[in-house]
Amino acid sequence: KKDIAIAIDGPAAAGKSTVAKKVAHDLGYIYIDTGAMYRTLTLKALTDNVPVHEEEPLYQLLLKTQIEFKQENGEQRVFMDGKDVTRDIRTSDVTNHVSMVATHPKVRQEMVKRQQDMAKNRRVVMDGRDIGTHVIPDAEVKIFLSASVEERARRRHRENMEKGFPSDFEQLKEEIRKRDEQDSKRETAPLIKADDAIEIDTTSLSIENVVSKILDLANHKI
Ligand code: C5P
Repeated sequence: KKDIAIAIDGPAAAGKSTVAKKVAHDLGYIYIDTGAMYRTLTLKALTDNVPVHEEEPLYQLLLKTQIEFKQENGEQRVFMDGKDVTRDIRTSDVTNHVSMVATHPKVRQEMVKRQQDMAKNRRVVMDGRDIGTHVIPDAEVKIFLSASVEERARRRHRENMEKGFPSDFEQLKEEIRKRDEQDSKRETAPLIKADDAIEIDTTSLSIENVVSKILDLANHKI
């Protein structure tokens, strides 16, 4: 059997992490949420009062920040310098500043370096915005997940309600639209479908549908 890497990119709230986790679980692979890494740096910047639009201080901050993923009770948790920040990185404050943090080339370069290190032995399902284009350009399976803004906002709204987070549908839609725009328009490694990625529009598909499509593609390469 061959060890492969699966790259899943796409706009905000397209279901990347839900799908990636299931695919990873099914294959016995590691799931790596690269968005959580940018969110962790954003959380630290906001906490330490480091301006999110200044590249060099953010880069220096990242160099002294340890970001780890750990599996606990079958759930993946994110740690910043040893502290569990799984919940803290999902606040709207972090969400609304993360795309600015992610524009800086030096920040991205360091993140990509860490991500490539995690993927060096393959057996990973990695999700983000630039995985198929920059982080693992030679991934055996590349997926671009999309869905209408309406549908993505609806899903995120439902998820927030379930988790007991405050949530406003119209506001969510606006935030998702704005984040996609920032991520697609930035100069360094913008959100874009890799030429050889397979696009799956999930607007009217179930999670199981999407997962089995990706597993099919993966099993052909394994
Ligand atoms: O995936 P998630 O929505 O948690 O990502 C948060 C933000 O991190 C994105 O909106 C984007 O600005 C940034 N990001 C990125 N490159 C990645 C993953 C996330 O720029 N590979």
